[in-house]
Amino acid sequence: MDYDSIRNDFPLLSKYTYLDTASSGAISKPVHKAIVEFIDSWLEDGEDWDRVIRDVLESRKLFSKMVNVYDDEVAVVPNTSTGLIAIVTSIEWRSNSNVVLAEHNFPTNFNVFSSLIRNGLLKEVRIARFHRGEIALEEYEKLIDDNTVLVSVDMVGWLSGYREDLREVSRIAHEKGAILVSDIFHAVGVLPLNLKELGVDAAVCGSYKWLLAPSGAAFLYIDKKLLDTFFKKCYIGWIGVEDSVVERMFKGEYKLFERPLPLLNAKPSSSVSRYEWGSWAGPTIVGLAESLRYFSRIDIELSWRRIRNLTSRLVDELIDKGFKLYSPIREDKRSGIVSIYVKNPYKVAEELSKKKIIVSARPSVIRISVDFYNNEDDLERILFELDKMKNEIL
Ligand SMILES: Cc1ncc(COP(=O)(O)O)c(C=O)c1O
Repeated sequence: MDYDSIRNDFPLLSKYTYLDTASSGAISKPVHKAIVEFIDSWLEDGEDWDRVIRDVLESRKLFSKMVNVYDDEVAVVPNTSTGLIAIVTSIEWRSNSNVVLAEHNFPTNFNVFSSLIRNGLLKEVRIARFHRGEIALEEYEKLIDDNTVLVSVDMVGWLSGYREDLREVSRIAHEKGAILVSDIFHAVGVLPLNLKELGVDAAVCGSYKWLLAPSGAAFLYIDKKLLDTFFKKCYIGWIGVEDSVVERMFKGEYKLFERPLPLLNAKPSSSVSRYEWGSWAGPTIVGLAESLRYFSRIDIELSWRRIRNLTSRLVDELIDKGFKLYSPIREDKRSGIVSIYVKNPYKVAEELSKKKIIVSARPSVIRISVDFYNNEDDLERILFELDKMKNEIL
């Protein structure tokens, strides 16, 4: 694959040393073109709503291929947090239920569970913690018991990029009759993924980071076997129901509103699309579908190899130069994120941005993201500038 020509697809990269995909991915020229054409046609001829629905259906298909699940196991929802809330509000909690979370989870993956406690639905939240840079499997074994209903572990940590061994966590959870939910936002688009092989029962992933699409959309995956059993308390809106306009379109019907829409007798759609509660953000969906088409032309094994090589070089050189790594040193625990401890994260990020190097400042660290469109020159530039700022950092 010719990564130099890939870089030409992302104008942002010719202006900046962009190392911040974990905050927000660069968008490509094809994504920009699709959105602009959609808006232009809206301006001239009105909104092409059918196009939005077609792109939702195609996005489900393309995403499901990326993570190796069936396309009727995927819903397109407004954001990752909505996806998680959809999951937890569909579960029949018992008075003695507990959930087990991982310390590296994103705040949403704590807050939805504390909401359950506040509302009297959940008894206890247990947290698997890091010891010497890792969460040992014994930690999960110790915390998960017969009253554990759900284990929620982010596949890749948002701050350190720590990559969890979901297959093992799922094995431990399943042994106790719990399900495994995972936020895979920092994994999809970075590394090859097979959620079935990993034993993930439900997952969420947003659009705007490593999927290189606009914000305002996310994917929710649920293993179909669990849909009417484990998640039977689901809520529905007007779209994700049997015989909805989308189902009609999916069946090739053309006059979508000819028959009345289901009202109080509405049944949830038989697929995970039941969680598509209402209308989508049209321009976002059009951009998302185009970005997923872009990904379908990329060899994800190759780009993951490239990301691994670049992050390994970055980690080695940062250590050589005396910086203190917040991210794991072990390669099998790493992803596209490399974070280092700094004394004043905002100051360092601002100094770097004056040199047109973009990273993110987070509590006690700066987070450097390496995607397939980054290259050795990007690494040299940031290493050079960090070296000059060593006194501010260490
Ligand atoms: C791992 C992870 N999950 C969820 C979110 C938030 O997603 P959303 O805004 O789509 O709810 C973020 C944002 O940084 C994140 O890093």
